[in-house]
Amino acid sequence: MKILNEIKFTVPADSRNEGLSRVVVSAFAAQLDPSVSEVGEIKTAVSEAVTNCIVHAYRGTSSDKSRIEITVRALEDNTLYIKIRDSGCGISDIKKAMEPMYTSAPEEERAGLGFAVMESFMDSVTVRSTPDKGTTVIMKRKILSDKTDT
Ligand SMILES: Nc1ncnc2c1ncn2[C@@H]1O[C@H](COP(=O)(O)OP(=O)(O)OP(=O)(O)O)[C@@H](O)[C@H]1O
Ligand SMILES: [Mg+2]
Repeated sequence: MKILNEIKFTVPADSRNEGLSRVVVSAFAAQLDPSVSEVGEIKTAVSEAVTNCIVHAYRGTSSDKSRIEITVRALEDNTLYIKIRDSGCGISDIKKAMEPMYTSAPEEERAGLGFAVMESFMDSVTVRSTPDKGTTVIMKRKILSDKTDT
């Protein structure tokens, strides 16, 4: 699918950049004319993916080299493409990690619902990961032209 526009940015894996990343993605998404609820759902999905990089990917490592790389594209059929990549610990069993209620950090009172939220709000969620190399999450959402809630 043709790429009409693109932004790429990299932020340190610090919790203050969760909100920043969400706002940058939603500002970019504005050119696709999303509804209020579409923007809210996209922001929530981005928050979950970025939070996972912050809390899981770089767990137990020194933070000054920990980066999250985010690519956002507007594709030709009014689809928003979001890629969120870390160079952290990776996921050994992606299928299990994506199961609703699975968390590797139950002691932190995590619900294990991040991937389930991403999947419910986006049209597709694809995860690629290599242990000790990192994880890439690609999400797509077609922005519909029917605006009934704005
Ligand atoms: N970027 C990542 N790097 C390494 N592991 C990850 C990453 N993203 C997710 N995981 C693994 O996948 C599991 C499931 O992620 P998910 O977001 O669904 O739940 P959670 O983060 O544990 O809980 P919640 O999102 O509800 O707070 C995590 O517990 C973690 O083990
Ligand atoms: Mg999570």
